[in-house]
Amino acid sequence: MINGETKVFGIIGDPIEHTFSPVMHNAAFKKLDMNNIYVPFNVKAEELEDAISGAYALGIRGLNITIPHKTEVIKYLDYLDIAAGLIGAVNTIEFGKNGIVGHNTDGIGAVRAINEISSVKNKSIMILGAGGAARAIAFQILLSGAKNLIISNRTIEKASELRDDLIEKLEPDVQIIDLDHDNLKIKLKDTDILINTTPIGMYPHTNKKPLLTADMMHENMVVNDIVYNPLKTGLLNEAEKAGAKPISGVKMLIYQGVESFKIWSGAEPPVEIFKKAIMDHLHLEII
Ligand code: ATR
Repeated sequence: MINGETKVFGIIGDPIEHTFSPVMHNAAFKKLDMNNIYVPFNVKAEELEDAISGAYALGIRGLNITIPHKTEVIKYLDYLDIAAGLIGAVNTIEFGKNGIVGHNTDGIGAVRAINEISSVKNKSIMILGAGGAARAIAFQILLSGAKNLIISNRTIEKASELRDDLIEKLEPDVQIIDLDHDNLKIKLKDTDILINTTPIGMYPHTNKKPLLTADMMHENMVVNDIVYNPLKTGLLNEAEKAGAKPISGVKMLIYQGVESFKIWSGAEPPVEIFKKAIMDHLHLEII
């Protein structure tokens, strides 16, 4: 029941109608008998500053931040944690007594999903794509001890910008390549973990040929597609054909939420509740 002691959390973005976060967080609050509520807010870019100071004034305890505000919101925060500072984007904010703190749990969510199958530490990783998601995952995977990283992107200049930023901040072993089939095939021989951050294969384009096929993969590889609609993408089907271990994008979605919840409550929520909430919801919404 909502009463005078209810603590409010939420997510701001534009658009926001299709967010899965309220379903996960409210299920966890209910299960843990917490007097909390999590609500979506549609906030236009020009209202972002007012939204953050208004949320603080209203005593909102925490917010998730999604497209298009993840970078812009930094201007209105007092502190950033290490990962958010390196990535230059925030998806979770905490309204504390001493100010507003920004975190980024997108990369942590992906690394946690992968670590469940095989630790990223000392591994050779290839990331497909060089956008916002690739950036968060690249920084976090290097912070988590990956041995080396190849960024493969259609627009090589974008991969080059991300590489330069990674090198400036973390001095890692990073290479970039375009999507040339033969070159990818060679590089994949030595890749332990492949992560797709491009939208290829996402509903409704599920019939589109994946960038990589089974003959380019090997059975000791872990393949993580951050696309979660459909749950099993064309890329993950190819991974299975090759005997590689597939990880659905839904895991990153679940764990980025779990990590936000941990930041706000100081405790690990029951992951099973997050999983069940999202799967029940996905069955309704996802093909
Ligand atoms: P996100 O925030 O989800 O990472 P983004 O910043 O728009 O989204 O990045 C999408 C990435 O997928 C980009 O690296 C994009 O490649 P370009 O840099 O060449 O634009 C990549 N991408 C999108 N559609 C693609 C396609 N059809 N083929 C190959 N790469 C694609």
